[in-house]
Amino acid sequence: GLGYAFHGEHQAGIVTPAQDRLHFASFDVTTDSRDALVALLRAWTEAAAAMTAGKAVGSATATSYDSPPGDTGEALGLPPAGLTLTFGFGPTLFEKDGVDRFGLRDRRPAGLRRLPHFPGDDLDPARSDGDLCVQACANDPQVAVHAIRNLARIGFGTVAVRWAQLGFGRTSSTSRSQQTPRNLLGFKDGTANLKAEETADLETFVWVGHDDDPAARWLAGGSYLVARRINMHIETWDRTSLREQEALVGRDRAHGAPLSGGTEHTEPDLDLQGSAGPLVPLNSHVRLAHPTQNDGTRMLRRGYNFTDGSDSLGRLDAGLFFVAFVRDPDRHYVPMQNQLSAKDGLMEYLQHTGSGLWAVPPGVRPGEYVGQALF
Ligand code: HEM
Repeated sequence: GLGYAFHGEHQAGIVTPAQDRLHFASFDVTTDSRDALVALLRAWTEAAAAMTAGKAVGSATATSYDSPPGDTGEALGLPPAGLTLTFGFGPTLFEKDGVDRFGLRDRRPAGLRRLPHFPGDDLDPARSDGDLCVQACANDPQVAVHAIRNLARIGFGTVAVRWAQLGFGRTSSTSRSQQTPRNLLGFKDGTANLKAEETADLETFVWVGHDDDPAARWLAGGSYLVARRINMHIETWDRTSLREQEALVGRDRAHGAPLSGGTEHTEPDLDLQGSAGPLVPLNSHVRLAHPTQNDGTRMLRRGYNFTDGSDSLGRLDAGLFFVAFVRDPDRHYVPMQNQLSAKDGLMEYLQHTGSGLWAVPPGVRPGEYVGQALF
């Protein structure tokens, strides 16, 4: 029944210990009215604060027997289940097809651009981008789905869902208090993640600083959310030898220890040589994602496993819905993705099918609405 605070210095759902379920939704704004956009953000803020506290949206009791209830009802009687709602603004909110619909063009953070094309990308436009995003995380899927459903309902006439993704099974830990979970490759994921307790590194790599972008001071204390829908060729992976699987990841499957030795939390020794070259192979994921191979960069990963059924050949449409929070996408995400997409041996088993980047405004103080400093 645990609940998290909605108000705070930063939005919840970033350093919050990763919950087990995700409902992520991308919205397009369907009006040109700045007032309607602001009214939506006010209404979303109010509803988000209520739902995060485990309360119903609007009046709990029906106001009229002849109108629909204020809340859709499926979470009535359920505890908050650790619900967090995290809101983001996409590049197209500031300018879409050359049009500045809301008078925001001059306030677009320099880092907020459509992500570049990466080697091997096979993106579906219907699963990519969007003017706004909402990340709902909870330990009960019904609570996460209820939250997105009610926000979409409140936004009817102002926003339309562009695409959405359900996730089960967190693929990261964001607190040292959590056990490392596993992704659908069967490997522990989140071992070396940036964690809530590492406050100095969070300042360096996650939270946007006051002077990062003088034209976009409204984003100070916020972050950027990168989302990538990454399909896995699961059936092929399942026919791959354990030796090959471990060599591609760079860690052992049983314990998540680096192939250079030790236990799960031993620092990988990328220089240690075996008879056939480095014990952590040159094309392994962990080597290529490691800070020493990326100008010291770390990021806060917060992804989820997904399965969207099976295709007509009976193959699972499944993978990892990768979510990361970074201070500067151009420094802390794009170079690493370029390196992984080009060299990571795992890429043979992966296909990036969706993508998006959003600026995540700082936390909301009581009486304010989310993103208020932008308007
Ligand atoms: C580490 C899997 C995509 C960045 C890891 C680990 C696994 C893993 C098993 C080792 C455990 C850990 O430290 O968390 C995967 C899978 C992916 C994927 C299955 C895709 C389906 C990505 C992407 C990025 C990324 C797209 C960033 C662009 C990292 C980083 C680490 C890591 C930064 C920690 C490296 C270190 O500090 O040693 N990943 N990953 N991963 N991954 Fe991924």
